Amino acid sequence: METLQQVQDVVSMPRIGDKAPSFKAVTTQGEIHFPEDYNGKWSILFSHPADFTPVCTSEFMTFAHLEDKFAKANCKLIGLSIDGLYSHIAWLRTIKDKIEFKGMKNIEVKFPLIEDISMEIAKKYGMIQPGESETQAVRAVFFVDPKGIIRAIIYYPLSLGRNFDELYRALIAMQTSDAFNVATPADWNPGDDVIISPAGSCGVAEERMTSTDELDCKDWFFCTKKLDKEEVLKNILKKPDLALNN
Ligand code: BEZ
Repeated sequence: METLQQVQDVVSMPRIGDKAPSFKAVTTQGEIHFPEDYNGKWSILFSHPADFTPVCTSEFMTFAHLEDKFAKANCKLIGLSIDGLYSHIAWLRTIKDKIEFKGMKNIEVKFPLIEDISMEIAKKYGMIQPGESETQAVRAVFFVDPKGIIRAIIYYPLSLGRNFDELYRALIAMQTSDAFNVATPADWNPGDDVIISPAGSCGVAEERMTSTDELDCKDWFFCTKKLDKEEVLKNILKKPDLALNN
C-alpha cells in the first residue's frame, strides 16, 4: 500500500507560472543547482526514458547539434534520465564514437545530463507518468525563464521523438511576447504578424475599431500588427548576456 507521500511524489506536477522546483544534481558536466545556476538565462530542462535507446539517442544528437542555436537565444539545455552517471558517460561516448543520424556524426553532448537513479527530480517534475512507465521518465520539456518561472511544458510519450523546430519556435515566440508585449498566433514564426491582447473595456474596443494606426483589427477582439523579423531577431538573439552564474 502506497503512502500519501508516495502518491503525491508521483503525481507532483509543476504548472505553468510556478517557480521551477529547486534541486541540486550530479551531471555529466559536474554538479548543478537548478534553477539558481541559470538565473538571467532561459533554460530547457528535458527528460528522456533511458540511456542507450534509439529515439533518445536521435534526440540527444539533435539537441547537441542545435545547442549553439539555443545558446544564441540565451537558452541553456539540461537533460535528465533515470540512469546513473557512468551509464550517461558511456552512452555519450558511444554516441560520439559510433552513431550517425541524419548526417550528424562525431556529436559531442556538452550540456549537462542529470543522473537521477533515485527518481527524486523526475518525481518532483511530474516526469514519471505511471500509465506510460513506472520506471522511465516520459519525454517532458520544461521551458524556464530567466527568473526561474516555468513558462511552457510539453510532454511526449516514450515512443515519440520531439520536434526540435517546435521547441525553438516556442522559445522564440515566448521571448517575443515578453520583449514586445504581444501574443503569437497559430504556427507563428518570426516575421509573421503578432496578436494584440484583446480589448479589456468598451472604450478600448471602440478605439481599436476606429483607429487608423498600425493595428489591423478584423473585429474588436482580433487585432494584429506587423513585427519585422529583423526586429524580433535583433531583440532576441543579440540580448546582452544577463547571466549571473553561467
Ligand atoms: C527509445 O528511446 O528508443 C525508447 C525508449 C523507451 C521506450 C521506447 C523507445
